[in-house]
Amino acid sequence: MNLTIGTLLAFSFAVSLIALAALIWAISRKQFQVTQKDAMSIFDNGKPGTFDDPSHPSGRLREATTLPLSPAVRRLLVLGFSTAVFWLLLGSVFGVIASYKMHLPDWLNQAAPLTFGRMRTMHLNLVIYGWLSLGGITTAMWLVPTLFKTPLRKAGMATLGVVLWNLGVAGGVIAIGSGWTDGMEWLEIPWQLDILLAVAGACLAIPLVVTAAHRQVEHIYVSAWYYMAGLVWFPSLFFLANLPSTHSGVQAATVNWWFAHNVLGLWLTPLGLGAAYYFIPKIIGKPIFSYRLSLLGFWALALFYSQVGIHHLIGGPVPTWLVTLSVVQSVMMVVPVLAVAINQHVLWLGNFWAMRESLPLRFIATGALMYTFASLQGSMEAVRAVNTVTHFTHYTVGHAHLGAYAFVALVLFGAVYYMMPRILNRPWPFPKLISVHFWLVFIGFAIYFIALTLGGWLQGLAMMDASRDWLESMELTIPYLQARSVGGTLMTLGHLLFAVNVYALFAGKQPATANAGNAIPATDLGAR
Ligand code: HEM
Repeated sequence: MNLTIGTLLAFSFAVSLIALAALIWAISRKQFQVTQKDAMSIFDNGKPGTFDDPSHPSGRLREATTLPLSPAVRRLLVLGFSTAVFWLLLGSVFGVIASYKMHLPDWLNQAAPLTFGRMRTMHLNLVIYGWLSLGGITTAMWLVPTLFKTPLRKAGMATLGVVLWNLGVAGGVIAIGSGWTDGMEWLEIPWQLDILLAVAGACLAIPLVVTAAHRQVEHIYVSAWYYMAGLVWFPSLFFLANLPSTHSGVQAATVNWWFAHNVLGLWLTPLGLGAAYYFIPKIIGKPIFSYRLSLLGFWALALFYSQVGIHHLIGGPVPTWLVTLSVVQSVMMVVPVLAVAINQHVLWLGNFWAMRESLPLRFIATGALMYTFASLQGSMEAVRAVNTVTHFTHYTVGHAHLGAYAFVALVLFGAVYYMMPRILNRPWPFPKLISVHFWLVFIGFAIYFIALTLGGWLQGLAMMDASRDWLESMELTIPYLQARSVGGTLMTLGHLLFAVNVYALFAGKQPATANAGNAIPATDLGAR
């Protein structure tokens, strides 16, 4: 056994011991003996029954559930969201440019940073690490203290974390643009800059862990499980996958896909589901369908997800047992996915009036639905017979956007629309733009996804047909790639409207005009 393997084993053993300690602690503190009453812990005094949406045009910002926020925490949240939205805009522009280049290959080829390889990579790193990760963790900075009914501790350290994270993302994207990368997908940011991101991550995680340790509630609501677990999973993944000169050849590819897929499942998914489990019942004013099921979903995700990524290497020179294990675990993901689906969709489908009333809910519930679709599609895509057709095609890119965009980004849009008026005690300056934003990204994404799914499938069939020229498999995708550019442009326009609202809200000074201090009774809104 060489030193590297020994270090990795020692690290895995240490992490397992921490997990075991957490499990023993949770059992001893009766965290698993949950009842449906625990689902009410997100409501005031454990009593549901009121519609709660600070962005609602009635202008009523319900103060009752708002923790008093210090100016330092407010500054932290504004800094986190304003920079995350900036990365979203820049990342989307790079995505659109990369998309046009796929059917206009001679466009913008004058300088190396403008070429497809760099544009695509800058796009991916900006939207994943700049927008989703930073936006998700900033959401946690508001949501975790709210769930634990205790003010955020060490806000100064968290602010430093946001600044360093932004420097890491900015440095990373400049490095990629200038051709300096580690050369592996999702791990392109040079490891020297990853050190900055790791320090930033620690500065962001420590305040949340300290806040959790000082919590004023005994029961840990399911959203907090997702957030706290994500805070353990992501740093472990990031550290192991970025260790320089540790893995090479097939090993490197295996670690690469183990990391890349786990970023989706053990980082972005907890950020998205944690938020959805809070905001959907909170806005509707009713608890989730089955609280026990929600925890089953959480633990099933923890159990099955970590080996899923190797299905990216089906057909590659990796041991068959490793791929088969991954295929089995990918299919087993149906368990947590159905648990989440039952809990969240039963609630919003049964209270459809709230989807008409609340735009944040519309974003979040649609995002939650897309989680179900993306996960079931992913389980299916991992089956060898399907993967043989879809591998190396645009179909996979459609799937990636169904998960990362239609699920996580939509939930995040809704969360920001809900949280910011409450945090700043000001209404959205352009409330009508919120609905336009929703429809632009919804229609844009539908075009994007349908085009790539169909085009990618036909591309796969053409590539497998030995009687057809390979060029044909490329040419037939052109109309679908053009459609993707149209869809992506609509999505980016939606992001622009989102940014206009966010920055105008942050720049505004006026206090809330109509703060009645009461939630809106659901009966006022046509609830049955
Ligand atoms: C928050 C917004 C977005 C997220 C989270 C996101 C996420 C991703 C991910 C995960 C990938 C890697 C896909 C893979 O390798 O399978 C990717 C690639 C890509 N994305 Fe996005 N994306 C977003 C917005 C957009 C937009 C608005 C466009 C505009 C058309 C776009 C165009 C592309 C293109 C062209 C690629 C490269 C595809 C390829 O290599 O064939 N994305 N994006």
